[in-house]
Amino acid sequence: MGERPRVFVARVLPAAGLDQVVAATEARVWDDELPPPRDELLRAVEGCDGILTLLTDRVDAELLDRAGPQLKVVSNYAVGFDNVDVDECTRRGIPVGNTPGVLTETTADLAWALLMAAARRIVEGADYVRAGRWKTWGPMLLLGPDVHGATLGIVGFGRIGQAVARRAQGFGMTILYHDPVRLPDEVTQPLGAEYAELDDLLARCDFVSLHVNLTDETRGLVDAPRLARMKPTAVLVNTARGPVVDPVALHAALRDGVIGAAALDVTDPEPIPVDDPLVSLPNCLIVPHIASATPATRGKMAEMAAANLLAGVRGERLPNPVNPEVYERP
Ligand code: DGY
Repeated sequence: MGERPRVFVARVLPAAGLDQVVAATEARVWDDELPPPRDELLRAVEGCDGILTLLTDRVDAELLDRAGPQLKVVSNYAVGFDNVDVDECTRRGIPVGNTPGVLTETTADLAWALLMAAARRIVEGADYVRAGRWKTWGPMLLLGPDVHGATLGIVGFGRIGQAVARRAQGFGMTILYHDPVRLPDEVTQPLGAEYAELDDLLARCDFVSLHVNLTDETRGLVDAPRLARMKPTAVLVNTARGPVVDPVALHAALRDGVIGAAALDVTDPEPIPVDDPLVSLPNCLIVPHIASATPATRGKMAEMAAANLLAGVRGERLPNPVNPEVYERP
């Protein structure tokens, strides 16, 4: 029997996936709560056949060089993979795996929770009670916009965007979507979603929820001119990636009443420093990138990441490759 493959796992994952990896490989698991510092990461991947990374671990040419030519797979524990230089992996014939599908509904739930919480000022209300400021019922106390019957704009109409649209249907909302690809009627009609150009969508919507991947095209997509197109009462929800929104422009827009509120699961930078001016704005609700954070979903993500890793080190096709073109090479 040959030697067991050497792998590095960049954090402790749910047992549903980690146990399989540990049983089948010579695994080193980074067991700190914080990501491995860059120099530790580079050292840890040396000589590995496979690496299992998180969105906090940058996988680039330097890391691939340090790993060495025997590296057979990069398995990312996320559906997003903007932390991985996929083109560089492809050039080297290394498949990259991700975890699509299993976190769609869970992420849409969190986007919905943020939308509702920002609209109805749930965190401000809870802080108000905790601070002992609740003295009486007030006709003007903590008013926020109605969600039901409002217009929702979904930017990025893939799996998660569509799952958010399904939730919006239950609230009788008008749904607009924007996506580089215009989706077929079979997809949009059952959801009652109408295509709109981005600037038009921003101008017409009471709520805007972002669901695009982070790419060169989407970095800074929501900038000062685009925020200025939005309604002064509009609520912006971001569960995609922080850099899709210009944070300086967002702060100015929230502070100056250009838009009504924002609710962010993702920030730029991430984690956002506690003294960042966005953190102290009462109309900016920020949670720490927890959209997929349920035990069931994180367990399924771990199983998928393990399956990608183990297939890769065995030289088999990954169940979920983001660069399937590596298999088309001679
Ligand atoms: C992802 O999977 O890309 C999320 O951001 C974390 O679950």
